Amino acid sequence: MSLTCGIDIGGTKILGGVVDEDGAILAELRVESPATDEEAIERAVCDLVRRLAAEHDVSAVGVGAAGYVDKSRSTVMFAPNIAWRDVDLRAELERDLGLPVVIENDANVAAWGEFRFGAGADVDDLLLVTVGTGVGGGLVLDGALYRGAFGVGAEIGHMRVVPGGVLCGCGNHGCWEQYASGSAMVREARSEARGGSLLARRLLDLAGGDADRITGPLITEAARAGDPFSVEQLATLGHWLGEGIASLAAILDPAVCVIGGGVSEAGDLLLQPVRQAFSAQLTGRGHRPSLEIRKARLGNRAGLIGAADLARH
Ligand code: BGC
Ligand code: NA
Ligand code: ZN
Repeated sequence: MSLTCGIDIGGTKILGGVVDEDGAILAELRVESPATDEEAIERAVCDLVRRLAAEHDVSAVGVGAAGYVDKSRSTVMFAPNIAWRDVDLRAELERDLGLPVVIENDANVAAWGEFRFGAGADVDDLLLVTVGTGVGGGLVLDGALYRGAFGVGAEIGHMRVVPGGVLCGCGNHGCWEQYASGSAMVREARSEARGGSLLARRLLDLAGGDADRITGPLITEAARAGDPFSVEQLATLGHWLGEGIASLAAILDPAVCVIGGGVSEAGDLLLQPVRQAFSAQLTGRGHRPSLEIRKARLGNRAGLIGAADLARH
């Protein structure tokens, strides 16, 4: 059975694993991500692959990275939230590792993972939305991963949803990810807490009185414990997501929309508001079949599983 290595480079950690043809993970490693230093990221990835390949006979490596990857699946041309510009990651990794490497967008690999082995295994047309630092998109159309003419299709986080809105890492104003990402939710919650909102009091207490220590997982935890302010933060985020997904459904008409990324761990606290806003905004509602909104099934391993599978093809 042929084994490949999948790597998912995130903002806070790098996950790596050895994956078989059925999407099963045979070995897994995780290290902190030196997200601001591109050479340090490369070294960390090489090191992870070497450690994994020492125990298993891997034939190729797939890497998911949070940015615009060119059509030849080599170069990270641009990344709104990490300091990468025009890095031929593939050439450098192949030289250092002596193995064939493919680079793909992080949301694309997660979409592929969920399509092959997870929440979208029963459909041919799937949209995956990852909700984390940014908002990523991965699109499987008619059973094939959609890349676009230049490799950078499905950059849904940068649809403009608010003319003249919040400045985005990509340089534009009003991008969807400035409203529908985990960081957007945290930004708003912190700002309310700093502004002395009584409603945010309980969350602020949980953060030890320091607004900067309010995080996505903390909001989810507080929401689960019944804090109305935190429940509302997730609902607002869900609302932005649901409305955006309705617009995307008007263009793409997928059978399933899978919601992944760290914030999806909040489950129905996020997904119910997403479904509500989506249903209220879907064009032609009531006169057309509606896509299903599902939580990612492979969790934070979707990316590495998908990357490993793409490396095989
Ligand atoms: C980037 C995408 C990435 C997404 C999730 C966005 O800001 O433009 O390339 O997939 O964040 O990491
Ligand atoms: Na993408
Ligand atoms: Zn943007």
